[in-house]
Amino acid sequence: MCIEFRNIDLLRLKKVILKDVNTVFSKGLNLIYGSSGSGKTSLLKLINLLISPSKGSIFYKDKDIQSFDIARWRSICTLTNQTTVFAEGSVMENILLPFEFKVHKLKTADNNLLESLLYRFNLTKDILDKNIKKLSGGEAQRIALIRSILLKPEIFLFDEPTSALDYNTQENVFSYLKELSKKHICVVASHSKDAKKYADFIFTIEEGKLRNV
Ligand SMILES: Nc1ncnc2c1ncn2[C@@H]1O[C@H](COP(=O)(O)OP(=O)(O)OP(=O)(O)O)[C@@H](O)[C@H]1O
Ligand SMILES: [Mg+2]
Repeated sequence: MCIEFRNIDLLRLKKVILKDVNTVFSKGLNLIYGSSGSGKTSLLKLINLLISPSKGSIFYKDKDIQSFDIARWRSICTLTNQTTVFAEGSVMENILLPFEFKVHKLKTADNNLLESLLYRFNLTKDILDKNIKKLSGGEAQRIALIRSILLKPEIFLFDEPTSALDYNTQENVFSYLKELSKKHICVVASHSKDAKKYADFIFTIEEGKLRNV
């Protein structure tokens, strides 16, 4: 079980972001490390079919991901964005919202998992009744993570999942992502040096080259 990049080039506004990338993301925590603007978010967007490569193909279980129905692919492979735009309403309403989408209709929110995630991410249950717009940046970031994890996809893509968190909370989140990655492919873009100790595979992007370090 892996995601495989074959001969991938990516140009955005004529700028080369990725050049001839051949790589595999396997089960485990795959950390993408690189300076701002190097292409981390772009790489996650390629996997999530939000953008297309200029050349080459991406395969999952030996099938070109472009051949999947997009909604179906995004139920298999969930991207938690660098910043999440929520709908009006309470935290709980926002957590449950994706379960109303056709593509997730066979899934149900696991309440026990929700409670344990709140605890693991240093949140208490009373946050569920709050207006989502009243959360701090770090609270909103953890709710976005919880919402993605509850959807139980096969593949998790996390873009800067701890950028708004204090050190201890960041450690708790990464130790959970480490557990998750025992059974799943997790691709995590992060600036955090501390993330390295949780990674099974570390990649850097520099001048269009993706290196497994
Ligand atoms: N929508 C877009 N259209 C064209 N170019 C874009 C677009 N979004 C990003 N880029 C460009 O692609 C390059 C890589 O951006 P990307 O967002 O992937 O970087 P990043 O490594 O995630 O940076 P950061 O650490 O700041 O989040 C940048 O030069 C950026 O200007
Ligand atoms: Mg980014």
